[in-house]
Amino acid sequence: MTNLAGAPSVIAIDGSTAPGDGAGMPPVITIDGPTASGKGTVAARVARELGWHVLDSGALYRLTALSMEKRGIGVDDVAAVAAAARDLAVDFSGDRVWMDGDDVSVAIRQERIGALASRVAAMPPVRDALLARQRRFCRLPGLVADGRDMGTVVFPAARLKVFLIADVESRAQRRCKQLKAKGISANLPSLLEDMRARDARDRSREVAPLVAAADARTIDSSNLSVDETVNAVLDLWSSLGAQGGAAAR
Ligand code: C5P
Repeated sequence: MTNLAGAPSVIAIDGSTAPGDGAGMPPVITIDGPTASGKGTVAARVARELGWHVLDSGALYRLTALSMEKRGIGVDDVAAVAAAARDLAVDFSGDRVWMDGDDVSVAIRQERIGALASRVAAMPPVRDALLARQRRFCRLPGLVADGRDMGTVVFPAARLKVFLIADVESRAQRRCKQLKAKGISANLPSLLEDMRARDARDRSREVAPLVAAADARTIDSSNLSVDETVNAVLDLWSSLGAQGGAAAR
């Protein structure tokens, strides 16, 4: 099985080089931000415009949560959770994702799984288990990576780091619409409550907290359409005179 970047699905932890912009390294654009800020949609669109690979790092934490549920692993058993993260047998293809041969594209988007993902994401051994796997997505011609710590931990040398924010009400409404469009039942007040709890947990955890990298450019998408947000990222990339960026526009 292969992941979207064409790398093997099950990857051993094989080192901790931080790719992203060194000589000869594929270029990387990181898009970090709170839950439902539109990172995933924007990252996929930017990657398509540039003809690059995309990494949805949140999906790996969600897959870990789903794998725990399937295997009956509790949140207290950190070693077993980390082993589940390390041993994920997953296959990304377009907007679909398979785990152990099953299409889990919808299952990983459930709020219950997102909330569990946020809890396991606070465990250092789980983050370690997923680090090398994430870095293996960095391949030519380039990578757009979205998550919470793409610019701070996973790809600290990325040439362009975007921190995408939006107010919590706009984000809850967007998430509500997205879930309903996927046929998943959603309730706005409970989404808002869950999103605030998840934001707080992501921001306050000790390892790789949600924080803008010192050299990140912040985009507030509260009043921007997806197209406008995508264009804002592409404009930033072009303004860097970055290789491949200007030509792609
Ligand atoms: O982005 P998404 O909502 O799919 O991520 C699910 C959870 O995974 C987040 O709430 C966050 O706690 C965690 N996550 C993370 N680091 C990342 C991506 C996601 O901690 N790079």
